[in-house]
Amino acid sequence: MQQLEGKVAVVTGASSGIGRALALELTAAGTQVVAAARNRDELLALAAEVKSRMGRDLHVITADVTRPEDNERLVAETVQRHGRLDIFIANAGMTMRARLVDADLESLRRVFEVNFWGALYGIRAALPHVVAQGGSIVGVSSIAGYRGLPGRAAYSGSKFALNGLLEVVRTEYLARGLHVLTACPGFTQSNIRKRALKADGSAGGESFRNEGEMMTAEQCAVHIVRAIVQRRRTLILTRQGRLAVWLNKLWPSLADRLVWQTMRREDDPVV
Ligand SMILES: NC(=O)c1ccc[n+]([C@@H]2O[C@H](COP(=O)([O-])OP(=O)(O)OC[C@H]3O[C@@H](n4cnc5c(N)ncnc54)[C@H](OP(=O)(O)O)[C@@H]3O)[C@@H](O)[C@H]2O)c1
Repeated sequence: MQQLEGKVAVVTGASSGIGRALALELTAAGTQVVAAARNRDELLALAAEVKSRMGRDLHVITADVTRPEDNERLVAETVQRHGRLDIFIANAGMTMRARLVDADLESLRRVFEVNFWGALYGIRAALPHVVAQGGSIVGVSSIAGYRGLPGRAAYSGSKFALNGLLEVVRTEYLARGLHVLTACPGFTQSNIRKRALKADGSAGGESFRNEGEMMTAEQCAVHIVRAIVQRRRTLILTRQGRLAVWLNKLWPSLADRLVWQTMRREDDPVV
């Protein structure tokens, strides 16, 4: 178990959805949060909410995770201002929705660039500082990192790769007291589906699933923060998510059919 009071945490992708909820949840637990994303206005709105609700200061840094230099600046500014870095949460991410043959190559690359390389650059920059504190590296992955989802080629591929990266980091520092959490939300209410890239690379603008029946970003954040406190290795969220991971191991051909059926039920399905 680790206490969060007085710790310093960086959250990428904190301008929306799960990252925003994580920033609020960690701040409420007494952690100094450094919130990063590209949309400065959304970050400043979050900082204003933290101030009015909790009377605390949120440190905001504008950064694009696909730029190695932005990740290095994010970590350097955090350590310079707060003197330490205990928890680094690689949460920034995006998705796409198109069959592989239809998807624009540039979009496929973009999704991988954000979800995998963006996480790798940030984790690599943060590691020496987090290791020095015996702290936590958290990758916000997905059920799609355990079970390929049709219509999400680059998304699933990038999350499988992220899971591998987190396993490598955990094992490289096994004897050094570093905690590495692979956090895999199931379907969670956020802006990710509205911003999902379509086959031609444009954003759809609307969710293609019923957001109302999903876990909320706040509930998801509570689970992730608890897993950080408990220094858990893996967190797989939602009953549907756990079933998908479990069934895929035990009876993969049945999992193929059920996953296909589930994705067929989306609005305007692509499979
Ligand atoms: N929602 C779900 O159903 C679900 C399920 C499983 C896993 N996840 C994972 O949860 C994480 C958060 O997603 P979400 O659902 O909360 O989506 P979201 O509401 O769309 O938020 C995505 C966040 O990522 C940031 N981001 C995107 N591209 C970026 C870039 N190049 N540089 C820096 N930040 C960038 C966005 O900020 P800016 O645009 O301001 O940069 C935003 O803050 C992702 O890794 C996603 O794969 C989500």
